[in-house]
Amino acid sequence: MENCGYAPGRAEWLGNHTDYNDGLVLGLGLGVGATVVAQPTGDRQLVLRAMDLNETRICQLDALAPVEAGSWANYAIGVAAGFLARGAKAHGLELGIRSTVPMGAGLSSSAALECATSRALQQAWGTEFDDMELARIGQEAEHKFAGVRCGLLDQVTSLFATRDHAVFFDCRSLEVERVPVPPDACFVIVQTGVKHALSDGAYNERRAECEEAARVLGVGKLREATPQLIDEMERGGRLQGAPLRRARHIVGENARVAAAVESLRAGDLAKVGQLMNESHESSRTLFENSCEELDFLAAEARTIPGCLGARLSGGGFGGAVLALLNRGSEDNFVESISQCAKRAWGRVPETLVTGAGGA
Ligand code: GLA
Repeated sequence: MENCGYAPGRAEWLGNHTDYNDGLVLGLGLGVGATVVAQPTGDRQLVLRAMDLNETRICQLDALAPVEAGSWANYAIGVAAGFLARGAKAHGLELGIRSTVPMGAGLSSSAALECATSRALQQAWGTEFDDMELARIGQEAEHKFAGVRCGLLDQVTSLFATRDHAVFFDCRSLEVERVPVPPDACFVIVQTGVKHALSDGAYNERRAECEEAARVLGVGKLREATPQLIDEMERGGRLQGAPLRRARHIVGENARVAAAVESLRAGDLAKVGQLMNESHESSRTLFENSCEELDFLAAEARTIPGCLGARLSGGGFGGAVLALLNRGSEDNFVESISQCAKRAWGRVPETLVTGAGGA
């Protein structure tokens, strides 16, 4: 008997590094995703086959542990470990994995793999975890098997995304709302093709700086901070430097997500685009998680007719820019941004044209 799970990659429409600060995020499922097919082995082995990479990893269900750092296998093994930790009655499986999500491009190929694995294991092992628990299992895999202290944005978006809707997620109440995306919206994701060496460590460093800012401000998480409180603490000289800038970014991002959801409800895409531009600027100057290539693409994108806004999407320090367009302008946009990048870098960047996708 075969069991099959699918989960899409995601883009972060708005809400940068807000998730682990208990904040607000607006996620977007993509039209690309990961598929995992599970078949019983009749023993206690977990056989992982990455069909696209032509790689196989075999591990024992009773001794699940991370393999070498950076391996795709850690995400699937980590998810299986999460099921076992929650008491799943597991038996040996062969997991056939395929994915159309570009890896290392800031589109959460890892979350898509985790979530597709979760869906396949859930069927194969007959568990009944709800989607939020599956998201936590994926997040735990990142923390314990990949060493990234991520929030829930990627997994929640991947699991809750439906076609033509954005995923509005309140990371404090854990409420998820699917917000219709106006039909005249279209997205293009443009990859920088760079992943700066510092990116993994820098993500955890940013998280630590946010925690430090929250501590100085006397709040549990930055979600509770207000612009007034930050001003006061700055005037008193208590909050300075990096923690001050990080706090301002998070508070600004939460406000921008709330404003974007209102604008979407009102069908005001131009306003959402403007919020995206402001978000990128805040990443560049306050959170300092942009880079030259992202700044270049975001700035050039905005000069192309039909582009309503552009920003970095995801952790930062490389990865991709997400551009919001009026539908119909995507072909010209892709052509223009490709030529622009080619002139500057001598190579044409990978692009992905997508609507809001889902399972
Ligand atoms: C990565 C993490 C997410 C989130 C974003 C930044 O994608 O995995 O949890 O923190 O960065 O918003």
